[in-house]
Amino acid sequence: MAWRFVLFLFLSSLSATIAQPAQPATVGHHHRTVPPRLTLNYYAKTCPQFDQIVEDTVYNKQSTNPTTAAATLRLFFHDCMVDGCDASILISSTPTNTAERDQDINLSLAGDGFDVVTRIKNAVELACPNVVSCADILSVATRNLVKQVGGPFYQVQLGRKDGLVSMASHVEGNLATVNTSMDQMIEMFKEKGFTIEEMVALTGGGHTIGFSHCNQFSNRIFNYGSPSGVDPTLNPVFANRLKQICANYQANPTQAAFNDPMTPGTFDNMYFQNLRKGLGLLGTDQALMNDPRTKPIVNTFAANQSAFFDTFAQAMVKTSLVGVKTGKHGQVRVRCDRFN
Ligand code: HEM
Repeated sequence: MAWRFVLFLFLSSLSATIAQPAQPATVGHHHRTVPPRLTLNYYAKTCPQFDQIVEDTVYNKQSTNPTTAAATLRLFFHDCMVDGCDASILISSTPTNTAERDQDINLSLAGDGFDVVTRIKNAVELACPNVVSCADILSVATRNLVKQVGGPFYQVQLGRKDGLVSMASHVEGNLATVNTSMDQMIEMFKEKGFTIEEMVALTGGGHTIGFSHCNQFSNRIFNYGSPSGVDPTLNPVFANRLKQICANYQANPTQAAFNDPMTPGTFDNMYFQNLRKGLGLLGTDQALMNDPRTKPIVNTFAANQSAFFDTFAQAMVKTSLVGVKTGKHGQVRVRCDRFN
């Protein structure tokens, strides 16, 4: 595939238990983080094979398709930020409803994330039909994939139900774009219950793997409003590489670059070390180095991988509890892409 070649070129050229009562309180479209009761052993009796099925499927999929981990981590994040972790991102549009996944920002979600969930769901439905939710599958698959590419392990609480609503119109305002200001980004994360430190850890964790299409950073390398035409916060050698990679991006919109040019397939703290050298790919990445509220956190994580891993793991547990539905507020879907 063309992008694999581009990525190859690029690489070679750069040498606890959280159980709380109550249903989620809803404020507008935002489900506040008051998690209902979930447990670690939710499927112990009803689907004892669940863990093993996820483990085997994820392992095989990531081994054959190394883009799966990043695809799934982004899918999980985009699901949880919009109407909570309820697998609403997996629902297909119908003639009468444009679903979340068809909102602009979600059109670039990579297929491997959807695919790994479908594979797990198919296997789980054979072993224990109508028991395991798509939302739980996505949460556990993400955790396993992060671990498989080198990231930290964390416990995932279970018992989420799948949501009954998936609307493209619910997305806006809940997911940052590359044009979102730092004030807005901090506010968005705060709304969901995250500290600035957790925001930095989550973003660094997300962007230490995977890739971004050229149109997401082309304004930094072509016709930027500076004498060189390039964003001055970008490392110049890196900027030149990106120009080569993206030379044709308008004709070929699949062109993409690694989010972490140094160790693109490994979950580590290299993203933060990169930011210190002007190797942040997206404008919002590099901005973390240029804001006094986030810069000290970047420096800490760049120097101390375990501090980053601890904060990331804790923030992922928190993410997995955003807007969770239980009981009659949701269902266990038979197919992840359709309501029952
Ligand atoms: C805070 C603001 C954030 C912004 C503005 C942002 C923006 C983006 C953009 C524009 C892309 C490239 C999409 C494409 O061109 O295909 C991307 C990729 C990605 N993002 Fe983020 N993101 C943010 C935070 C996060 C967080 C918190 C996570 C997860 C914890 C995350 C996980 C990912 C992953 C894994 C990819 C690579 C996807 C792949 O390779 O398939 N992002 N992000």
